[in-house]
Parts: sequence; C-alpha cells; structure tokens
Amino acid sequence: MEQIIINGGKKLKGSVCISGAKNAALAIIPATILAEGVSTIENLPNINDIKHLVIILESLGAKCSFLNETTLKIDATNIKKYRAEGDSVRKIRASYYLLGALLSRFKAAEVEMPGGCDFGGRPTDQHEKGFKLLGATTTMSHGLIKTEALNGLQGSNILLDVVSVGATINVMLAAVLAEGSTTIENCAREPHVVDTANLLNMMGADIKGAGTNVIRINGVKKLKGVNYTIIPDQIEAGTYMIAAAITGGDITVKNIIPQHMDPLTAKLVEMGCEVFEGDDYIRVRGSENLTAANVRTLAYPGFPTDLQPQITALMATTDGIGVITESVWDNRFQYVSELNRLGANITVDGRIAVTKGPSHLTGAKVTAIDLRAGAALVLAALNAEGMTVIDKAVQVGRGYENIEQKLKGLGADITVI
Ligand code: UD1
Repeated sequence: MEQIIINGGKKLKGSVCISGAKNAALAIIPATILAEGVSTIENLPNINDIKHLVIILESLGAKCSFLNETTLKIDATNIKKYRAEGDSVRKIRASYYLLGALLSRFKAAEVEMPGGCDFGGRPTDQHEKGFKLLGATTTMSHGLIKTEALNGLQGSNILLDVVSVGATINVMLAAVLAEGSTTIENCAREPHVVDTANLLNMMGADIKGAGTNVIRINGVKKLKGVNYTIIPDQIEAGTYMIAAAITGGDITVKNIIPQHMDPLTAKLVEMGCEVFEGDDYIRVRGSENLTAANVRTLAYPGFPTDLQPQITALMATTDGIGVITESVWDNRFQYVSELNRLGANITVDGRIAVTKGPSHLTGAKVTAIDLRAGAALVLAALNAEGMTVIDKAVQVGRGYENIEQKLKGLGADITVI
C-alpha cells in the first residue's frame, strides 16, 4: 500500500466485520514457540505485521503454513536458534516478545532492537526487570538485546513500576516454564493480555488472574501445541465506530466483544451519537450535531491510546472545545499537523491537544506518520470535502485488514494504490 485516495463527504452506512486482534496475534504467535509441537492459530488479521512475524519464526527454524488467509499452522518442534535478526525484526515492535518466548524455551535469547511506531521513548526496562528477578541477565550491544539465565529461570515476585502491556506479557512468557511460582503485580489488563494467558493455559500453563492487576503463575515443565482462535480487534472496531460518527453515518460493527469497547462507547454517547449494543455487535448512528468532549488515555479499562488519534480527528469536526490528554506515551500528537492540513483547528502543548470546532475539513495531500495516525487521516478524509491523498499508506496496512474493501462496502469512495 503506497497511497490511499479518498473522496470524502459520504455518510457511511451498512455493516462491517472486524478481524482478529493485531496486538493479541503479535503476542500469541511468539508464544507458540514455547511448545515443541504444532499449533494452529485462527482468526489472525491478514496484515503486514503478521507476515513479518512468520518470516522471523521461519528464520528460527519453525515451519509455518497458512491454511487460509486467517489460519496459520506453526510447527515449532525444530526451532534450534535463539537469535532473531533481520529486517522483519527491526520493523515491528512486537519482536520484543521473542525475548520472553525464546528465554522461556532456551533459557537464552538474542533479538535485534525492535521497531514499530514512534511515540517518543519506548523503554523496555520493565521487561528486563522482570527477566532479572526470574534469574536472567540482559545486555545490549551492537543493536542486539541478549538475555540469558545460566542457572535456569526461577519463579519470583515482580512488581512492575509502570503498567506495561509488553512487560506483562513478556514476563508471563518467561515465567510459565520457570521453576516455582511467580507473582506479577501492577499488570496491564488489556484484552490481549488475557487472550495470551488463555492460549498459554490451553497449552498447559498454570496462570491465574489475567485481566486483573495481579497475575499468579505456577511454573510447569512442558507445554503442548494447541488450536486457538484470537479475539476480535478492539482498535479496528473502534476505528469503524468513529467512522460512523465522523461521517454522520450508521454502521453496525460486527464480530466484536462489546465490553472491550465501553470507554469509546461512553465517549461517543457523550458526544451525541446513538449507540446500540448486541451480544457481538455495536451499531453507531452519527449525527450532524455532535459536541466535543474531554478524553484522557489510560491503560485498560481506560480510553485506549491506540484510539487517541482517531477520536482527535472526530473531535476536530464536532462543535466546541475538546481536550485530549495522552497519559501513556510522551509524544503521540505528531500527526496533528497533518490533520490541520485538512482544515482542523488543533493546538498541542506537550501531552495535551485542544480541538476547536466544528472545522470544515477539505481534502489535501497528507502523510501517515504511523499506523493509528494513518487511521485518523483516513477518518478525517472520509469527512472532508473533495479528494485527500494519504502518502505512506503502508503504515495503515500494518493494522487494518482489507481497509479498502471494508470502507467501500460501507459506501466510501476510496482507492488504495
Ligand atoms: C502496546 C501496543 C501499543 C499500545 C500500548 C499501550 C503492541 C504490539 N503494542 O505497546 O499499540 O499503544 O501497548 O496500550 O501490543 N514503559 C516503560 N518501561 C517498559 C515498558 C513500558 O516505562 O519497560 C512505559 C512506556 O514508555 C509507556 C507505557 O509504559 O509509557 C505503556 O507501554 P506498554 O504498555 O509497554 O506499550 P507496548 O507494549 O510497547
């Protein structure tokens, strides 16, 4: 995907089916390394980050084959290498899960520094702190993170200093095959943390408390390969819910877990949307008279930082002053200048953005600086009068399966080059 071209101004209507969760898949695929056997993972999103991960697993010695576009069979029996390197490792953030997974299986791991979106500093000190308390030493040289536990991994009590999705999952991966019991306190509670714990338990692990802020793990000797289906993507679902709001449309977002959407649902209702919830779908009806609100991003069950750029785009088109406070990342408003190119009136001071609306957006040439920034531009372009061309659309393809077909199905005028 190089460019997305959108002729905006159409009210989107109809239903859209949500794919499997990217951030769950990116943890679950490395987790299959823990079993010397075959696992089949279903409901994977058909996106670039998954393809990078498959390339990495194959470079380690796993045999991977797609049974269809969303089902991947992974035979991890013959993985012998514990060094992951190359373009694919450097391109995605989630390659850091290979540290926990390889450390768990081989008691040693070497992984090139991960890439991913640039939100300012993305430290891994809490991952390392957890590994250290389990008995591993981590060093960094020549762009390679090395961690090894010469005397094996032993269970421990770990209190994370910050609530981190990555550190919670990585420490969980390292602890499931450690000797004895581990307690992780101040854990992240995101749906993908729970999904990864569910997979590991199905593989034979003994993990309790995922979804709360204390996770207790009793180490086991061995894990087995399993068949597992990934949860729906909370962020993709949220993006289509906002698409209904920003176009004054009426969209039913299907194949989701509505409870995962609660923080966004509440905000959309506060702004004036009508929202109807079913067992596995949410219908959002926008309106031309939405009002701005205040949003603060927080770890789950707070408002997700990965929907912050999208709600900011919406807020720019609504009436009044909206204040968006980013509490998770240092520098996640870099995309605002691109929204302003489309006619938004947004000012940023550090971790706070203020929207003054309603702004009449008009099409222009803009650039997707990262994945969710790209999604915000797509949403703004759907609202804008005339044609918007979004460059670096590959960023959007990292997280949104078939975005062209899905938006076309809702009535958008969109072309992906
Ligand atoms: C994951 C998501 C990302 C999302 C983020 C927060 C994946 C692949 N990415 O990223 O899309 O925006 O969760 O929901 O799942 N921190 C430290 N030390 C650490 C680790 C994190 O200080 O060792 C800080 C970070 O700087 C940040 C906060 O903790 O301020 C949350 O980061 P974390 O939850 O770890 O994000 P990721 O797992 O990298």
